[in-house]
Amino acid sequence: MLTSKHILLIIGGGIAAYKSLDLIRKLRERGATVTPVLTRAGGEFVTPLSVSALAGTEVHSDLFDLTKEAEMGHIQLSRSADLLVVAPCTADLMAKMAQGRADDLASTLLLATDTPVLVAPSMNVRMWDHPATQRNVTVLKADGVAFVGPNEGDMACGEYGPGRMAEPLEIVAAIDSALGDGPLKGKRILVTSGPTHEPIDPVRYIANRSSGAQGTAIGVALAGLGAEVVFVTGPVDVAPPEGVEVIKVQSAVQMQAAVEAALPFDAGVFAAAVADWRVATESSSKIKKKNGKMPVLEFAENPDILAQVSQLKDGRPALIVGFAAETDDVIANATAKRRRKGCDWIVANDVSPETGIMGGNENDVVLISADGSEDWPRMGKNEVAERLALKMAEALAD
Ligand code: CTP
Repeated sequence: MLTSKHILLIIGGGIAAYKSLDLIRKLRERGATVTPVLTRAGGEFVTPLSVSALAGTEVHSDLFDLTKEAEMGHIQLSRSADLLVVAPCTADLMAKMAQGRADDLASTLLLATDTPVLVAPSMNVRMWDHPATQRNVTVLKADGVAFVGPNEGDMACGEYGPGRMAEPLEIVAAIDSALGDGPLKGKRILVTSGPTHEPIDPVRYIANRSSGAQGTAIGVALAGLGAEVVFVTGPVDVAPPEGVEVIKVQSAVQMQAAVEAALPFDAGVFAAAVADWRVATESSSKIKKKNGKMPVLEFAENPDILAQVSQLKDGRPALIVGFAAETDDVIANATAKRRRKGCDWIVANDVSPETGIMGGNENDVVLISADGSEDWPRMGKNEVAERLALKMAEALAD
């Protein structure tokens, strides 16, 4: 929680400026006060009206207002803020900060304060990779400026690579950790995520359709509440959460070893779609066609990682959350699964193809515990993650 924290948010001129509107909403939901400052370029991407409506306060944007008594007060305000956040932070703003220039309100505030600063860079990949920008990053880091992102991915300009602004939840997590706060502070939480790949031979494997989106969102949300997250992930395309310990694995057996090595932890969320079976004997060379004769694959059952951790006699984590991806009788199957595996909660969802959940952005879940079931409305995977993380924080606080 960011109750009674005061964030001075500088919105620079980048296409990602629209995400800072969501950031303001998320910060206020957590109890923070947000004072927004819009650079001239930032005002080309989002309007002062939408920023002030979400922040619930006036937006500051004009350097020349600095001559006013009231605006001098905002320099004071930048000093009394708990944190200055620049999101999106353009290459130009970074260059100004690195050089100590003060030719508009945002750069003046950044120079005139001794409050900690967090930046969320957002720019074209070539601009980010440019030696000048990289020099500025080094200078700013040496000056104690904290960074979140940029993430790698498709960019609005059509290119691919590092340069995308971190997602609002990742920025919230970075703000929490910059302020050393959050209800899960001091809690070590394991998250498994993504599919597993079970090798057949050196070139083939058995996989499933899990994208890792839900597990990643949970890792981000838990870190956002201050948890120390150990994130064990199978092969996925989505970038792992920022600022967490990431352990990449391929197969279920490797995932089990990584989870065992991560013990002890206070809580575990087992969001990975672990393959139930592996090929009993992986061929060390590529299996060749044999005159129309089909290869026969023998299967062996994979270790059930969730059940093993849930049934630990010594050092069982205080709270264990499993997932149940079902296509029929969701609640009945998931309730039985919770008992069988021995976990505390099960997040159950219907992954029939017509729901569009597997690989999609939304989820429609029922949370099942020993006390019964709680039907959540269909919502974004990020929202599911936030709600689950908050519920876990409540349970772990008891
Ligand atoms: N899980 C695990 N290790 C496995 C299989 C599953 O940790 N080898 C975890 C998943 O991460 C998930 C939960 O168990 O949290 C449910 O997985 P699911 O595949 O639905 O359960 P199964 O045991 O395969 O049950 P069923 O075959 O009846 O669907």
